[in-house]
Amino acid sequence: MTITTIHDLQILAERRVPRMFYDYADSGSWTEQTYDDNEDDFELIRLRQKVAVNMEGRSTASTMVGQDVAMPVACAPTGLTGMQHADGEILAAKACEAFGVPFTLSTMSICSIEDVAENTSKPFWFQLYMMRDRDFMSRLIKRAKDAGCAALVLTLDLQVLGQRHKDIRNGLSAPPKLTLANMINMATKPRWCMGMLGTKRREFRNIVGHVSGVEDMSSLSAWTASQFDQSLTWDDVEWVKNQWDGPLILKGILDPEDAKLAVKTGADALVVSNHGGRQLDGAFSSIRMLPVIVDAVQGDIEVHMDGGIRSGQDVLKAVALGAQGTYIGRAFLYGLGAMGQQGVTTALEIIHKEFDTTMALCGRTGTDQLNGENLYLPEGFEAG
Ligand SMILES: Cc1cc2nc3c(=O)[nH]c(=O)nc-3n(C[C@H](O)[C@H](O)[C@H](O)COP(=O)(O)O)c2cc1C
Repeated sequence: MTITTIHDLQILAERRVPRMFYDYADSGSWTEQTYDDNEDDFELIRLRQKVAVNMEGRSTASTMVGQDVAMPVACAPTGLTGMQHADGEILAAKACEAFGVPFTLSTMSICSIEDVAENTSKPFWFQLYMMRDRDFMSRLIKRAKDAGCAALVLTLDLQVLGQRHKDIRNGLSAPPKLTLANMINMATKPRWCMGMLGTKRREFRNIVGHVSGVEDMSSLSAWTASQFDQSLTWDDVEWVKNQWDGPLILKGILDPEDAKLAVKTGADALVVSNHGGRQLDGAFSSIRMLPVIVDAVQGDIEVHMDGGIRSGQDVLKAVALGAQGTYIGRAFLYGLGAMGQQGVTTALEIIHKEFDTTMALCGRTGTDQLNGENLYLPEGFEAG
């Protein structure tokens, strides 16, 4: 199969990854309205073609929280990535390292902070979920520091888990329970099974062995309900900031008032995000909220965005609307599920090439030149 788009990788991933993990990636909460809108709303934006501009020597390079990136794209933190492909987080981190873009390791990863650090040579980013056990939080933050992580991404939009119907139907767990249905499905994924047999990394290794009294760690929903801190407020952001003492990124901001509160924390960046449509179904798409939030913060904090990016054109649209950086979730997960490390590299290459070519055809030679003048927005596009 010739791969030219992220969608091609998705088709291949669906063939190669067991149903429960493919569905975990390809789903949003409840009706999936916000999940769908994230992608669909990008298509409403049109690009402005410019000709006879010298394109030579153009560059897609930029910075995110002051760090150099080959293009304004990072891999988003995603849970259970080591279930899309054996050692998934390590492979994706290696692909990002070679490409020159940040990889963000989720708290709910399969490979641990230490696993990824041992197998890479450049710093990666770590994403934190606030849990009730503050001692564990302190230790986790310290582990990220010791591993040399270059930024901490604190996710604020998952104090409770948005219901995803497919995960309930599939009985999502890591490692998967060996029910008859799962075994029949896995029997059709020999490549995935061989990989899993060849690795020892099959559980939530940031957590298992690091917290006492953890009973049912395999069930994400049970773990979230019992451990995630529902009492989290802006005061706790301060606590994390003091513990971490490095570049801090607040993820899951979708409201202009919240964006202003994020500025007050002194964090380095915020991510306009609805968790890829997996949390509050019915919320606006990220790309529609982006200009509203950029406007609200008035340059007082770096603004990033994620949600629905499936192409380099989407990246360009987000950057032109004021995002200093973007993140891809499913786009890299499909690559990983399809072809491991090579698949993540392919996903990054596809997005990079599209971004570069589109930038040129819009008459721009650098990311800092992209702005609203490159786009045509339909009437009433901005949310609010
Ligand atoms: C399978 C999957 C798992 C995710 N797990 C996490 C997570 O552990 N922590 C987090 O902050 N966000 C998580 N997210 C949200 C992503 O970081 C990101 O916000 C989202 O994927 C962006 O949308 P996109 O997939 O359309 O690019 C997850 C997303 C997916 C698809």
